Amino acid sequence: MKIAPSILSCDFARLGEEIHAVESGGADWIHVDVMDGHFVPNITIGPVITEGARRSTKLPLDVHLMIQEPERYLEAFAKAGADYLTVHQEVCPDLARTLARIRVLGVKAGVAVNPATPLDSIRDVVRDLDLLLVMSVTPGFGGQSYIPTSTEKVRRARQLLDEQGSAAELEVDGGIDTGNAGLVASMGATVLVAGSAVYRHAGGAADGVRAIRRAAGAGAPPQSR
Ligand code: DX5
Ligand code: ZN
Repeated sequence: MKIAPSILSCDFARLGEEIHAVESGGADWIHVDVMDGHFVPNITIGPVITEGARRSTKLPLDVHLMIQEPERYLEAFAKAGADYLTVHQEVCPDLARTLARIRVLGVKAGVAVNPATPLDSIRDVVRDLDLLLVMSVTPGFGGQSYIPTSTEKVRRARQLLDEQGSAAELEVDGGIDTGNAGLVASMGATVLVAGSAVYRHAGGAADGVRAIRRAAGAGAPPQSR
């Protein structure tokens, strides 16, 4: 299981230190939440901060583009050092083309689906994917609660990837904490994003990463098996 802390919940006055903290806790990837004030109400990180994150770590940068017309910015984020670029299905009229453009830039290609977006909408591009991101909150803000119906969607996403022989990562993002990480892991997720559960952890962010990893390894709680 890979743990990808979202820097959205970190202290941006200390970006480098905040990234080093999760590295020391064993983080696998750094998740970068890019929001444009159009696709989602919030405005967050752009290529400049992404490039700052790039200079702070050698870990893969997992850049989640919650923006309209993502094709306009793929090159800028690739140049800023993204290892994965994930676009939203809801804003890509020609997903196959967008994913191909990401790959041409030498970056791994992901697609994200909102809670309200059916998995059927990405069925035709499964073979073009390095990563499938199932949103477990409506994107826009950190610190929201996990939507319980996401669990079943992760299970079906696992099935969809397996049916098509895809080795793509299956990432789950939104409201992940020690209470649900085991359940989500047991459904076949391979990457868990966690923002507030890591950076607001009482013992500090490094411990926050360790706690999520422990919970993921413990599997589903008995009542939900
Ligand atoms: C939601 C973002 C998430 C989120 C994760 O719009 O894509 O990455 O910030 O933060 P938590 O773990 O606090 O939900
Ligand atoms: Zn995200």
